[in-house]
Amino acid sequence: MAYGLLKGKKGIVFGALNEASIAWQAALKAHEEGAELVLTNTPVSIRLGSIDELARETGSVVIPADATSLEDLEALIDAALEHFGGRFDFVLHSVGMSPNLRKGKPYEDLNYDFYAKTLDISALSFHKLLHVLRAKDALNEWGSVVALSYIAAQRSFEGYNDMADAKALLESVTRNFGLIYGKERHVRVNTVSQSPTRTTAGSGIAGMEAMLAYADRLSPLGNADARDCADYLVSLFSDLTRHVTMQNLYHDGGFSSTGLTAEVVEAFSKGIDL
Ligand SMILES: NC(=O)c1ccc[n+]([C@@H]2O[C@H](COP(=O)([O-])OP(=O)(O)OC[C@H]3O[C@@H](n4cnc5c(N)ncnc54)[C@H](O)[C@@H]3O)[C@@H](O)[C@H]2O)c1
Repeated sequence: MAYGLLKGKKGIVFGALNEASIAWQAALKAHEEGAELVLTNTPVSIRLGSIDELARETGSVVIPADATSLEDLEALIDAALEHFGGRFDFVLHSVGMSPNLRKGKPYEDLNYDFYAKTLDISALSFHKLLHVLRAKDALNEWGSVVALSYIAAQRSFEGYNDMADAKALLESVTRNFGLIYGKERHVRVNTVSQSPTRTTAGSGIAGMEAMLAYADRLSPLGNADARDCADYLVSLFSDLTRHVTMQNLYHDGGFSSTGLTAEVVEAFSKGIDL
């Protein structure tokens, strides 16, 4: 059911690779709620994924950009301003990648060039994006910028590797840029800390299936999927959340507040495969 929550709003969505992507579901939902969209991803991901299908479905344009490149971000924001005929209202940063995870380098033996790349793609890119949005005064007052995070920013999750450090930095950028952008333009900046979700990025994490099963059993409401996440994101782009800023918002079915559930005990005591 659509509520028209984003009627008249315009926004950029980063990170829709394929139907499984959180950004894909967010774009569909934002469109359903009345938003006009620009979609973006790296040229490689545009070629290998299916973003053109999403663009057709949502009546959007696709503008390629590598989120680590200031030049690309500047060109993207200029093109979006032109496309929308002026300022816009929201941006979703749904971007993450760790070359160390991809190449199987463990946390205690990282390749440091890869480590720098992980931080650049998954966290610095958010600072760069906010910097360019602000420098070009591209967002309307009370605009909303949201990035996707994970609870490994607060607690150690073995196997999540250097992405944990990237998420901790991402959440810190959110607070520090949020303060400046909020005071100057009433723009809010938040992260959503999402349940483990079956996506291309998710599948790179060691033991992802076991992690999904464990999180599901530990979460009173069960894991939130990409569609649930899209619903929450739309609420953060809407006018219903105008005073929410500089927050890391858990969207995890209660996982982050739970120590133990009977379902986890049962799985271990009966030897059920997690
Ligand atoms: N899947 C999960 O379990 C989970 C849980 C919590 C948070 N997240 C976060 O959600 C976000 C989206 O990931 P997803 O799970 O939808 O996976 P996904 O693989 O569908 O999306 C990741 C996107 O990042 C893009 N990307 C990579 N490098 C880029 C660059 N240099 N410039 C621009 N874009 C780039 C990819 O092309 C891809 O579209 C990520 O930040 C991820 O860490 C995922």
